[in-house]
Amino acid sequence: MQGSPKKIAMPFAKWVSCLDWRWLLFIGSPLFLFVVFFSTSFPSTPLSSLWPLRRFIISHAFQGNSTFNGDFLSKDQLVVRSRIAVCLVGGARRFELTGPSIIDNILKQYPNSDLFLHSPLDKDAFKFSLLKNAPRVASVRIFQPQPLPQTESETRVLTALNSPNAIQGLLQYFNLVEGCLTMIKSYEAKKNFKYDWIVRTRVDGYWNRPLDPEHFIAGEYVVPEGSSYGGLNDRLGIGDQRTSTVALSRLSLIPALDSAGFHSLNSETAFKAQLTTHGVSYVTKRLPFCVVSDRRYDFPPSEFGVPVAALSSPGPLSGAKCRPCRAACKGECAERAMAVLNRGWSWTRLENGSLRLCNASGGWEEGWQARFDKVAGKKFAATRKRIQSMKLEDCLRDFKILQKRAVTWDAPPATEICTLGLAHT
Ligand SMILES: *[C@@H]1O[C@H](CO)[C@@H](O)[C@H](O)[C@H]1NC(C)=O
Ligand SMILES: *[C@@H]1O[C@H](CO)[C@@H](O)[C@H](O)[C@H]1NC(C)=O
Ligand SMILES: *[C@@H]1O[C@H](CO)[C@@H](O)[C@H](O)[C@H]1NC(C)=O
Repeated sequence: MQGSPKKIAMPFAKWVSCLDWRWLLFIGSPLFLFVVFFSTSFPSTPLSSLWPLRRFIISHAFQGNSTFNGDFLSKDQLVVRSRIAVCLVGGARRFELTGPSIIDNILKQYPNSDLFLHSPLDKDAFKFSLLKNAPRVASVRIFQPQPLPQTESETRVLTALNSPNAIQGLLQYFNLVEGCLTMIKSYEAKKNFKYDWIVRTRVDGYWNRPLDPEHFIAGEYVVPEGSSYGGLNDRLGIGDQRTSTVALSRLSLIPALDSAGFHSLNSETAFKAQLTTHGVSYVTKRLPFCVVSDRRYDFPPSEFGVPVAALSSPGPLSGAKCRPCRAACKGECAERAMAVLNRGWSWTRLENGSLRLCNASGGWEEGWQARFDKVAGKKFAATRKRIQSMKLEDCLRDFKILQKRAVTWDAPPATEICTLGLAHT
């Protein structure tokens, strides 16, 4: 009888030491992960040297059923926590309509996302003042547009056909996109870290749903479905460092396309050639945004015409052109209209009534403001009204706030940007 406590005591001691191990693992691993994630959210901490390890964990979690996936964080949660550069390019033309939707549906969905804005200075640039409400502003570059010299290889590789401003228009667009990549790389070098993902999108995109984490796929470049104009839809792209670097190097890869024998490319076919010649595989996805446009198009569209969606379409519109309008055509009428379109050109998917069409042969119709407000809701309507009745002093104040929030700033003085658009007020 006296021996029995000893018999119990021995396994108990073993059990305790075993327990210690499990506790250490149980408490230690999430703590370790937390420290790694935390340290990269604040790159100034000395622990930021751990970021390559974090990237290793993320990339491996994405590639299959790693222990880190499932056990602690789902793939979606990993994306939401990862470091994302959101690159916005283009002119601010209707930014009072699109800006708030980008802030809510992209930037606010991903708390570690940083905004990069690359835009030309024009009379609408004052509208960027609304970005003072963006959660994190890394870098802003607003520049005086200059004609770009055209090289011989650009003349050979590109075509002026179907581009509103011929080859010069394409070069300006490519410069906007590649310039954003340059901004991101120099920010990374300065801060000594690298983004897990780069989301490249446009200032004129109106988002009617949040960007879903499922569209972040390691090793693949994700582009919207449809509107492919013989190549790949280039109105948005999501990728990791490797795929994004190829996808966004739109000017510097033209000589490579020239050597590969490509010629007479439009923006979309050049984009596709860029990816295929550099071994970047891509996937197309239905994404919940449309490109707000003032351009006029024949209605109903012909085989190689351009459909213009009503902003009120339930979507996803995958970057099709849109404007606020009373739908001229929906249901079976829209189905008939879309059946005419060439599938490799301006076609976009129409499923479950996702698409309603505008008659965009004229200008925006009378009362479009009320139509927009009804679709977009009170909050976005308030921003639209604020920008459309903005006074010079409001613009100056908001731009100063934005400038203070931006980590790097390369733009003309606020007075110049604001007076250019609001001198009359
Ligand atoms: C991950 O696990 C699921 C089932 O749990 C399985 O269907 C899937 O094929 C696995 N994927 C990989 C890449 O191993
Ligand atoms: C369309 O609706 C059907 C039936 O409700 C559904 O199964 C399908 O997934 C929907 N398609 C899309 C793209 O939403
Ligand atoms: C489209 O609108 C124009 C006016 O902007 C009108 O003349 C034309 O008849 C309309 N087309 C159709 C098919 O409704």
